[in-house]
This record gives sequence, C-alpha cells and structure tokens, in this order.
Amino acid sequence: MDRDVSRVLITREQIAQRVRTLGAEISTVYADSSRGLTILPVLSGAIIFLADLIRELPLKMKIAVVHLSSYRGTATDPGEMRVIHGVSGDIRDRDVLIVDDILDTGNTLRRVHGLVRGAGPASMRTAVLLRKPSKAPADLAVDFVGFDVEDQFVVGYGLDYDDHYRNYPDIAVLRPELLK
Ligand code: XMP
Repeated sequence: MDRDVSRVLITREQIAQRVRTLGAEISTVYADSSRGLTILPVLSGAIIFLADLIRELPLKMKIAVVHLSSYRGTATDPGEMRVIHGVSGDIRDRDVLIVDDILDTGNTLRRVHGLVRGAGPASMRTAVLLRKPSKAPADLAVDFVGFDVEDQFVVGYGLDYDDHYRNYPDIAVLRPELLK
C-alpha cells in the first residue's frame, strides 16, 4: 500500500494521541448521563476510529450501527446516497453519539442526523475524526472533531478508496494518478 500513497498526512502516533484527548473530552460531557449512552458509528468508514475511541471512554454504553453509502464504484465524487441499513437497535430516549470518519460535504451526516432524530433520542451529538473545513456546511453542527484537513482525498484508518486502504494505519493522500 505504501507505494500507492503520495504522502502521510497524519501519522498513527498523532491519531492515537488525538483519540485519547477526544476520549477525555467526550467522557467529560457524558460523565453524568443517566439516560444511557448509545454510540452510533456510521459504517463502514468509522470502524477503526470507533474501535479506538470507545476504549478511551470509560462509560457504560451500547453500540448501534447505521450504514450509508455515498460513493459510486471507484469515483471520489459523491453519488447517490443510499441507506444500506438504518439505525439498528432502539435509541429512543437515549443519549446518542454519532461517530463518523470524515465530514466532507456533510450529505452523509445530514442524512444520519435525520434518521437519528426520527428515532426520538434524548440527545444527539456527533464526533468526526476528520473535517474538511473548506467544504463542511456551516449549519451542520458537529460536537467533537479530531483533525481539520485540506480538501484532498484521504485514505487509511478506516477511510477507503474503492473499498481498499481501510487497514492503512496512517491517514494518507492517495497518489492522484490512482484516482479514477
Ligand atoms: P460527505 O461528503 O457526505 O462524506 O460529508 C462523508 C463520507 O464520504 C466518504 N468520504 C471520504 N472517504 N476519503 C475517503 O476515503 C475522503 O477524502 C472522503 N471524503 C468523504 C466517507 O465515507 C465519509 O463518511
């Protein structure tokens, strides 16, 4: 995989360090929650972030999932949004923390927010590992952000291109000639 990457943007050590501090921030917010916390990763990109983040949260929690797809084939341009699987489990009257890999155009999170609101949670917050501030819509609120990144296609640490590179341990920029 190394040869497919033009540069590493965020190293695994930097990710681990930030996930620890994010975990501390999130734990403080939910420390007094008596309603029950449900963590809701957006599949599939959030899987690795989820696995690391929840181990930094010394809180009693349930995990539900929601699965959306917005990219067609190998294209990096957002295509038609598909809800592959709606919110699993009952989140009514629970504190819900949505966990996603990246806030880019915001289309995915907007859809997820709608699905979650429709299920009647007690509260809804969102944590994203990455955000592209130049593209993220100002009206789309996220509560916890790992890193702001430039507007370029990144892979690794759960983020894919054509379903590859999710297992790349750093966050990296793919060689432009590989993007179709
Ligand atoms: P939107 O545009 O809806 O994007 O905010 C959210 C979802 O699209 C995927 N995405 C990316 N995946 N590198 C990736 O590997 C990127 O730079 C990128 N930008 C968006 C991702 O699945 C995210 O949840």
